[in-house]
Amino acid sequence: MKEIPIGLVGYGTIGQGVAAVLAMNGEEISRKLNAKVYLKHVVEKDIDRPFDVPLAQGVLSNDLDRLLNDPTVEIGIELIGGTTIAKQIVEKMLKAGKHVVTANKALLAHHGKELFQLARKHNRCIAFEASCGGGIPLIESIRRGLIANDVQAMYGIVNGTCNYILTAMIREGKDYAVALKEAQIAGFAEANPSLDVNGTDSAHKLTILSSLAFGQDIPFECIHIEGIDTISIEDVRYGNELGYVLKLLAIGIKEQGGVSVRVHPAFISKHDPLSLVSGPFNAVSVYGNAVGHTMFYGRGAGRMPTASAVVSDVIDIILGNAGRTFNELAVLPDVAPKADIKPMEEISSRYYLRLMVIDRPGVLAKLTEIFGRFNMSISAITQREGSVYDARGEAIVPVVVLTHRAREGNVQSAIREIAGLEVCTQEPICIRVVDEHPEWQ
Ligand code: HSE
Repeated sequence: MKEIPIGLVGYGTIGQGVAAVLAMNGEEISRKLNAKVYLKHVVEKDIDRPFDVPLAQGVLSNDLDRLLNDPTVEIGIELIGGTTIAKQIVEKMLKAGKHVVTANKALLAHHGKELFQLARKHNRCIAFEASCGGGIPLIESIRRGLIANDVQAMYGIVNGTCNYILTAMIREGKDYAVALKEAQIAGFAEANPSLDVNGTDSAHKLTILSSLAFGQDIPFECIHIEGIDTISIEDVRYGNELGYVLKLLAIGIKEQGGVSVRVHPAFISKHDPLSLVSGPFNAVSVYGNAVGHTMFYGRGAGRMPTASAVVSDVIDIILGNAGRTFNELAVLPDVAPKADIKPMEEISSRYYLRLMVIDRPGVLAKLTEIFGRFNMSISAITQREGSVYDARGEAIVPVVVLTHRAREGNVQSAIREIAGLEVCTQEPICIRVVDEHPEWQ
């Protein structure tokens, strides 16, 4: 049977997952592929630390040149993460004539165009199924499976760490910090977990996914980003009482005025299938004008799911599919037209607002006057009896408002004005309510 040697750089969580998948399923893969795929070189900075997944003698080293200079190795996997050394390694592998497999969404979001061009110059390809949605075969489903469609919108839960934290807060009333620690221990979080919780990781993935879905060049810098690091349990509870579940959504919508691309916490209806996606799971709803609603679901983070996608990319390159898709479809950002991005202040949405105000005559009237002036219509409003008092003994009460659709720019102006009122005791909380997308049939 033909043997196909592979090189891998970075023997961390996912790198060891790749070795584990090949050990666990190698025979089955060989049977299907009629070839044996094996790791010939694994390059790791710190080779003296303990590893969970052992490698054959002589495979592990800290010498990248062994991999680069081995003409029998045509595929190199980059799994070190980050955007500086990883970029240099990917460039070296491409220049050395290797096809590249990477799970590195940050690298592709920031330097994808440049790297894709370099790959084309060297007649190689870059495969990156593991960069978004872990083990979910999302990239290929969007790029090839939905190619017959004009994709109208996508809504994704694409960060397992955030979804794990929000689920633990909603279902178990767990503290944010405790849930984050658990997600880190389980191996879902990035080396720097602030990239997860501040929404950057989701935005990296949205850059890649929205570019493929819309067939346009959508730069990372155009994405509006808010994370879950400022979410409080009270809002999770109030939203829940109103019939909504809080998720961190990565949203891309093609609409009048351009493509809206944004990552932010969102209340979604308990009837929206995305609301059922819990723990480290990811899911992306994609709406095409021919197919209607499709939804992709699975484990979006972690060792084995991500390794599953990495190994599938390796096999796709061996089969010749990855190279042809890479070269022949004009959907990657280096060859696709630049997108018109809709400015954030022009989007329209429904909103959840929590305003902490002094319980005094005329306060609600003042608030509703401001809403009216900024063309914001109230869909529901509740005030709780106060149990917290200011220094003068006046009660401070939460006023929770749900609006009908309003223009973002108007809502932000109204919030600024409310924040400046003497009766407003803390920065207003504003969370968008995202309704299910209307189906195109
Ligand atoms: N930190 C990421 C997550 C890992 O939590 O989803 C997968 O990209």
